[in-house]
Amino acid sequence: MDDLATVLYTTRQIEDRVRDLGRAITRDYRGREPVLISVLKGAATFHADLLRAVDVRASVDFMSISSYGARSSGVVRIMKDLDQDILGQDVIVVEDIVDTGLTLSYLLSTLEAREPASLEVCALLDKSVRRITPIDIRYRGFDCPDRFVLGYGLDYAEIYRNLPYIIAVDDMDALTEDPRALVPLLAESDRRSA
Ligand code: IMP
Ligand code: MG
Repeated sequence: MDDLATVLYTTRQIEDRVRDLGRAITRDYRGREPVLISVLKGAATFHADLLRAVDVRASVDFMSISSYGARSSGVVRIMKDLDQDILGQDVIVVEDIVDTGLTLSYLLSTLEAREPASLEVCALLDKSVRRITPIDIRYRGFDCPDRFVLGYGLDYAEIYRNLPYIIAVDDMDALTEDPRALVPLLAESDRRSA
């Protein structure tokens, strides 16, 4: 298994960064009531943890988008829109990972058109070297290396989202050939996340 993937961020490291991000948001939004938007499905795990680290009145909303293909083309469809109107609201878009930035830039322009009072991004992982469209990420968890990563919400073929830590895939060919190649990691999670 160890030649297939490597632990990149442990459960503990993620917890620490999420707490820091929550503190930063708490400080910046004191006296305001931000809407924390979770971009389904990948960001759901991070969003749920981040919420509880934010100590101001906040509301949550969910958006589901689908990009065509496993990696981004910038062609994005809204599958589920927000329940609430964000006109005049302070909005924070919570993302799992920003890679090329194409998905998020589309999403941000859509939200911007609804005239929120403010619009910021909180991304757990920033694969900055892969950026095609510049994105201003106000709150960033980790500057992520250019590796395919899984776990803590991030999937391959809808698998691995429930890994409690983040791994980098070493053998991408093995995974493309068999999307379940890393499934034994799920069973070993208690041991490996310690
Ligand atoms: P972007 O449009 O290239 O920034 O792609 C963003 C989306 O691609 C993310 O929200 C993920 O769904 C997916 N993605 C990009 N890199 C990875 C990765 O390393 N692992 C899993 N999903 C990824
Ligand atoms: Mg995503």
